[in-house]
Amino acid sequence: TEPGEALARFLVERSFASAVFFCNSGAEANEGAFKMARKWARAAGGGEGRHEILSLRGAFHGRLFGTLAATDRPAYRLPFRPLAGGVSVVERDLDDLATAMAAGTVAAVIAEPVQGEGGVRVLDAGYLRELRALTREHGALLILDEIQCGMGRTGSFFAYEQAGIEPDLLTLAKPMAGGLPMGAILMSAEVAAAMAPGDHGTTFGGGPFVASVALHVAERLADPALLAHVRENGAWLGEALAGVARRTGRVRAVRGVGYMWGVDTHEKAGDVVARALDAGLLLVTAGDHTLRLLPPLVTTRADLARGVGLLEAALEGAPSIRGGGEG
Ligand SMILES: Cc1ncc(COP(=O)(O)O)c(C=O)c1O
Repeated sequence: TEPGEALARFLVERSFASAVFFCNSGAEANEGAFKMARKWARAAGGGEGRHEILSLRGAFHGRLFGTLAATDRPAYRLPFRPLAGGVSVVERDLDDLATAMAAGTVAAVIAEPVQGEGGVRVLDAGYLRELRALTREHGALLILDEIQCGMGRTGSFFAYEQAGIEPDLLTLAKPMAGGLPMGAILMSAEVAAAMAPGDHGTTFGGGPFVASVALHVAERLADPALLAHVRENGAWLGEALAGVARRTGRVRAVRGVGYMWGVDTHEKAGDVVARALDAGLLLVTAGDHTLRLLPPLVTTRADLARGVGLLEAALEGAPSIRGGGEG
């Protein structure tokens, strides 16, 4: 449709990609990317042998059949074993990855530039560059899952831009159509060339309504002024959270970039989330002891400051960690 084509043009002009496939969710986008990686590997001469998909420790790529095997959450995985074959989780260690790829059986490595559900773990630029070099060296594709960290969240339209690398495939969803179901797979010309009509498909993907909304969202989120606002206020937020950690003594670590921050807490993160909600601040967890802060990208510095104040109060509201007293 015309809106879908306009959106695809926008994403291609703004990225490494030469083609885009639209679907309906994040997990669906990753499932499609896995299929494309396998088809590419076969076309590139790997035959049946080069078929494995590797994901990284702490990864979350969705809960459908193939993506569940790439998601490193025992609670999600265990009830559904045996999981889909040829998809496995490896350590985030580059030497381990090199060993896993040495046999020439890996079609692709999938990674989130900032792991969201896994505790807001930023894969720094150096790591991403080495991962890019390693996948090239071993004839495997690099799939970046920017479903949570893409589209402005880190202060650049795509998170990968900050590392100065280009992936072969990239997946988007969550914010894409402002809350309507939409996902996308961006791919290089080489990957696109390996796919033939009918290899992949979906009824609803890229319909004119969601594509029109998504184009509007993409144009707004690619605005350099908005991205600068996210970078500047995001850096301020990181410092403010470090201040909360120093003052309260109830925080183990603060990690993040842009408008995506993780705060490791001594007490159960869920308890802090509940107290924060009572005070009017919406947080989520990313693991048992990590709070995840994902403010709307339009949040002003003043509102961030208010949120940090509420967070500090919620942390201070915990029972004393020193024991004694009223408790
Ligand atoms: C990084 C990442 N990948 C994939 C997904 C799955 O997306 P969806 O819930 O749209 O299937 C999520 C959702 O939380 C995510 O954060």
